[in-house]
Amino acid sequence: MLRSSRSLLTALAVPLAAALAIVLTAPAPATADRVVIGGHPARTVEAPWAVAVASRAIFGDKRSGQFCGGAVVGPTTVVTAAHCLSGGVLGKDWRDVRDLKVIIGRNDLRKKDGVEYPLARVWVNPAYEGDNRAGDIAVLTLGVAVPAPYAIRMAGTGDQAYQPGEPASVYGWGDTEGDGTYASSLRTATVRVLADSVCESAYPGNAEGDYDPRSMVCAGLPDGGRDACQGDSGGPLVVRGRLVGLVSWGSGCAMAGRPGVYTRISSVAGLVAAHG
Ligand code: ARG
Repeated sequence: MLRSSRSLLTALAVPLAAALAIVLTAPAPATADRVVIGGHPARTVEAPWAVAVASRAIFGDKRSGQFCGGAVVGPTTVVTAAHCLSGGVLGKDWRDVRDLKVIIGRNDLRKKDGVEYPLARVWVNPAYEGDNRAGDIAVLTLGVAVPAPYAIRMAGTGDQAYQPGEPASVYGWGDTEGDGTYASSLRTATVRVLADSVCESAYPGNAEGDYDPRSMVCAGLPDGGRDACQGDSGGPLVVRGRLVGLVSWGSGCAMAGRPGVYTRISSVAGLVAAHG
């Protein structure tokens, strides 16, 4: 997650001539994302509802098999993104993945602390369309209940937390640089809830995406520099202590004018209640 690039730092560390060459030959950057450091470390004790969704069989042992994020919303209920369970991500039907797990309380995926929960049930929103990516929600039911304080409350329709300008925190173990560098330890970044109009003009239904305010919420910074990225999908966006979104998609990561798009939790709360 939560990148922003260390390119400038790298440039400073190499000899001047090489640095100049980089500066002179690099394509015009979306400036902000090259000079602002995005996320910072978080700890699962402060964000116990931030969980990893994992399969060692598919993604290997190194990072506990983590491939997406999720959020605990009830004793046995975890929400994640529908696209996390797609054939595109898993390389096969999720029903054929025998070791899907939710990992709770593990800051560092290289370690063994926390608890790995097997799943009793999986529900993937059948209305999720890969096309415009609306309704990007899946419900994972844990085989064993977690203590109630692990759960975060979901924001409802009209919640103040959806007001543009509200500071919002996104959590995940995803890409920190936008180049396939995945975090070992949980990270968070503070962005802001943005007006729907910002994402509607960034993603008007062209090749970069199709923003649908009914089922999505827009968040980021006007100049970019902080954002979720690959591997953060399904993870929580939190405002005023409520879950407002799940990491869903975006064009690139942390680029100016290309905010993050999140599943609007208030729009799927009914589905979560029905399938949790
Ligand atoms: N689709 C990505 C994933 O599967 C999440 C991308 C979020 N991108 C963004 N710029 N906020 O992990």
